[in-house]
Amino acid sequence: MEKKFKRTTITSALPYANGPVHIGHLAGVYVPADIYARYLRLKKEEVVFIGGSDEHGVPITIRAKKEGVTPQDIVDRYHYLIKDSFEKFGISFDIYSRTTSQTHKELASQIFRTIYDKSGFIEQTSEQYYDEEAHQFLADRYITGECPHCHSEGAYGDQCEKCGTSLSPTDLINPKSTISGTAPVMKETKHWYLPLDQHEAWLRQWILEEHKEWRPNVYGQCKSWLDMGLQPRAVSRDLDWGIPVPVEGADGKVLYVWFDAPIGYISNTKELFPDSWEKWWKDPKSRLVHFIGKDNIVFHCIVFPAMLKAEGSYILPDNVPGNEFLNLEGDKISTSRNWAVWLHEYLEDFPGKQDVLRYVLTANAPETKDNDFTWKDFQARNNNELVAVYGNFVNRALVLTNKYFDGKVPNAGALTDYDKETLKEFADVKTEVEKLLNIFKFRDAQKEAMNLARIGNKYLADTEPWKLAKTDMERVGTILNISLQLVANLAIAFEPFLPFSSQKLRDMLNMSSFEWTQLGQTDLLSAGHQLNKAELLFEKLEDDVIEAQVQKLLDTKKANEEANYKANPIRENIDFEDFTKLDIRVGTVLECQKVPKADKLLQFKIDDGLETRTIVSGIAKHYQPEELVGKQVCFIANLAPRKLKGIVSEGMILSAENSDGSLAVVMPQKEVKPGSEVK
Ligand code: MF3
Ligand code: ZN
Repeated sequence: MEKKFKRTTITSALPYANGPVHIGHLAGVYVPADIYARYLRLKKEEVVFIGGSDEHGVPITIRAKKEGVTPQDIVDRYHYLIKDSFEKFGISFDIYSRTTSQTHKELASQIFRTIYDKSGFIEQTSEQYYDEEAHQFLADRYITGECPHCHSEGAYGDQCEKCGTSLSPTDLINPKSTISGTAPVMKETKHWYLPLDQHEAWLRQWILEEHKEWRPNVYGQCKSWLDMGLQPRAVSRDLDWGIPVPVEGADGKVLYVWFDAPIGYISNTKELFPDSWEKWWKDPKSRLVHFIGKDNIVFHCIVFPAMLKAEGSYILPDNVPGNEFLNLEGDKISTSRNWAVWLHEYLEDFPGKQDVLRYVLTANAPETKDNDFTWKDFQARNNNELVAVYGNFVNRALVLTNKYFDGKVPNAGALTDYDKETLKEFADVKTEVEKLLNIFKFRDAQKEAMNLARIGNKYLADTEPWKLAKTDMERVGTILNISLQLVANLAIAFEPFLPFSSQKLRDMLNMSSFEWTQLGQTDLLSAGHQLNKAELLFEKLEDDVIEAQVQKLLDTKKANEEANYKANPIRENIDFEDFTKLDIRVGTVLECQKVPKADKLLQFKIDDGLETRTIVSGIAKHYQPEELVGKQVCFIANLAPRKLKGIVSEGMILSAENSDGSLAVVMPQKEVKPGSEVK
């Protein structure tokens, strides 16, 4: 830690309490935050590690409505499940509280009120959809209708899930309230906005100039937001679940979930230290670090800092290590499609193997790009690294000591040059691990710790003490002394990453605790010290266990496909006549480019056999324009022209869509003349 700081406040994103947590959460946020917290604690630094559940917001109310229970029921159910999973994985929060706590309600209101009294908000009236039957304003997700782009039914007020286009509720054709089923009406409503535009100048300076050391993905996302220009953001909502807006004339209005949730970090600190919480949040000598996933970057780097600045008495984050996403077996993790490895299920299926998952998730951490979790890789890393490298070395050193020295640490006699070289090598590891941990490169840091075990294995393989036992016991003693010192070093180096295994290892070594400063030292165990019984640190994972997990996912996939087919059944029969009305042709793509300001759309120039026609298609998320130039595609040639983002589209390109929304453009299997009919 740089000298200018005295203590560190670590936060990890508060997960929504509307579902259990999965490996993506663990890999992206909680394991790295925990590694960092444990590391600083081992260094005897002053640190607090804050967690909690995010219990407000519209999705929780939707879920409650669907199940016919209250939102409080939902958050109670998941808060405790999530808390329990984190505990069992050794995520060492100093507190894990929740945003429905009394302390939080009071603090969030108070912060809103302070900003309000300083004229830090602007009030604005706008028209929003209102359900006259249910007597309430409708959040975007409570309105459905026909998508103006792909014309499918059931698009939501914020997005069409069929074509992926972002929408606002007024874009929908024939909107309906999902609460009463009636058509909503427009009605005036007043809200409070945080004028981010007024904060832009200092944010630019603070992030773009003063925090160039932030991870490139985090810095880059901030830069692109700032370069687009910031807009005022509403911090209140018309909703009956949340913290009431604490001003006159705000009946039926609550704080926007993204206003109250980050304040939860502060409230939870306050709940933990009712008398001394302020130093963690207001003393410039406190260093604030937010661990988050990439979808949270703008809120933690721009919105929350602007709130804190507007309030006036808080410190700002010093770093925001944001991770990319972890995929599962090649597909995006999805709660609604049950495409995930749920932590509570892992704990049941792999009891006592929390460290294995922690290890694999760190080894594969999505620090710089999205990464993939596969069960094969999980097995390989367990068997080839944890068992074959780390566990094997520890076991050999301990078993040999038991065999030749009754489990007592032998004396180290004269050192050879090779011994000295080995000792020097692992003294260097400390510097390297520290350097990497300090810059949040957990994946490389863990690799470096594993190198210690590699050094150990090589040392034993090269010195072969078992061959010397008959001739030179003194030399055997030296070799084992060095090996045991290495084992003790491993317990320290892995402590932040694999806390359960380090504990187990310390028990075997009969050492109650180590400190980080001891890492790299070669006299951690004194001669004559009695070791405890050796146990295996890790166990091999057999194929059948892994196959069972893969099968579980295949079953999920199958169930999803069946559900998808049911939701999307073959439509009723049509006459041949009807079919002949469709004029489907093959065309050759002459040009293809992105449509500016529309992240989903590609604009094509197609040779249709007669002339060049323009077609706009919502597939930009699935293809780079250059991939399609020169290819032949099928398109509906007689669809009435429509305007999309100001461009007249003369037809529609056909593609086949997977249930997860990924798609492939349909192409003839052999080249044909442009204009050929498809029938
Ligand atoms: N609940 C949010 C999510 O899961 C994260 C909230 S982080 C906080 O994306 F800062 F608002 F707490
Ligand atoms: Zn659509």
